[in-house]
Amino acid sequence: MTQPQKLAVLVSGTGSLLEAMINEDLQIDLILADRHCRGIDEVPKIAGAKGKPIETLLIPRLFGKEFNREEYTKEVTKVLLDRGITVIAMAGFMTFFSPEIFEHFGGKILNAHPSLLPSFKGDHAVRDALAFGVKVTGCTVHIATSELDAGPIISQNAVEVLPGDTVETLHERIKKVERVAYPKTVKGFMAGL
Ligand code: GRF
Repeated sequence: MTQPQKLAVLVSGTGSLLEAMINEDLQIDLILADRHCRGIDEVPKIAGAKGKPIETLLIPRLFGKEFNREEYTKEVTKVLLDRGITVIAMAGFMTFFSPEIFEHFGGKILNAHPSLLPSFKGDHAVRDALAFGVKVTGCTVHIATSELDAGPIISQNAVEVLPGDTVETLHERIKKVERVAYPKTVKGFMAGL
């Protein structure tokens, strides 16, 4: 018998991928953020308005030298374990976890990345692709591991770079594709567990 899965979506920003997941009626059990952002302050209201409220949790992180990555990872991992979460979908989550989380959730953490990995890893994938002058970029859904943006790839979609593109116009065109691809890929991944 397949185990019931419990999904947590992690956000740090606009939350438009989370919004797409809610609109696609994915069963989401927890929305967690590392900072105040639209993803946690506004987007969950959409689920509430649909009559399917989702628990939200803000675990604010510090920045700069004061940030203790190990402690933060421990705190988040505990919260997820306490709630019986089995699958984690990072949707624009900007904190890189320390390896401990993978001891508990290895192979069960998905990440959406706005480039065709392994090209353009890191926080500035769209800017870097544009600066390099590629004519095609895209988005990747992969399994997160302790190495940044390097885990096994689950799905990819290409997006053309157009003349005159800025980081903003190109990222928005990529996100349009991600809003379809991410909910679909997360759904498929969970169905296969
Ligand atoms: C997406 O492009 C995703 O690939 C990246 O962050 C962006 C999230 O966008 N990791 P949003 O906050 O869901 O609008």
